[in-house]
Amino acid sequence: MPVKKDKKQQAIGIFDSGIGGLTVASAIAKALPKEQIIYFGDTAHLPYGDKSADSIKYYAIRIAQFLLEQNCKLIVIACNTASALAYDTVKDFVGKKATVIDVVNPIVHEITQNKKLKHIGVIATKATIKSDIYAKKIKHLNPKLEVASQATPLLASMIEEGFFNNKISRAIIHDYLSKPKLKKIDSLILACTHYPLIKKEIEEFYKGKTVIYDNAQAVAKMVAETLKKEKILSDKKNKVHQFYVSDYTKSFEETARNFFSSKVKLTKASIWK
Ligand code: DGL
Repeated sequence: MPVKKDKKQQAIGIFDSGIGGLTVASAIAKALPKEQIIYFGDTAHLPYGDKSADSIKYYAIRIAQFLLEQNCKLIVIACNTASALAYDTVKDFVGKKATVIDVVNPIVHEITQNKKLKHIGVIATKATIKSDIYAKKIKHLNPKLEVASQATPLLASMIEEGFFNNKISRAIIHDYLSKPKLKKIDSLILACTHYPLIKKEIEEFYKGKTVIYDNAQAVAKMVAETLKKEKILSDKKNKVHQFYVSDYTKSFEETARNFFSSKVKLTKASIWK
């Protein structure tokens, strides 16, 4: 079936509970500079990591609906927690209107290709760890791999507040990464899209002895491949990116500007009225 010409110029919709998904959005913008991004940060409901599966599904569907109303051609769930608990629900809801990409499958696929790894650590929100999605998917692709999963519930809120690169954040990170479960790992997945913002501190802890993976590059690669396969890659430089939040926060604006230049303008979208 011929692809409608203007579909190529439609935006990529990306969402997370807050600033975390900006790490993914920024990787997508770098890999695909002609694409327009419409980003939604659900700051009113953050952190997702402590919420029930039902709440996360409810938020994710409403945001997907909003992104479809903005005519997005593809939706990226740039949140591990929502990917773990609501990927199928969002896919069912969106149907054929757009392809939905999660952040778990691309990194699991990438990490299981590295034949040198034996013992993979996963740090994430409580909800992601409780779902056990990483261990299940990694073991499905390679049953010989050991997976050690550790919930690190303070980190996302701390990062969202811009509270990192200081003595206290280092002490919290140190405490989590010193847990006995993570002692033997040779690699670590930052299974929360907020965590690349503290990657430097995590690398300092491991001093080069552990390979650190985050979702951003693998997801950007998957988005590029999908748009190419569906023949809907943008072929013109598109309109400016748009950033929506469900509640205005200063740290969201600052982080968005760090990633996407000072021109970022935040719009509050009251989609739960
Ligand atoms: N950035 C999100 C994730 O990847 C969620 C953090 C949160 O809201 O708890 O899991």
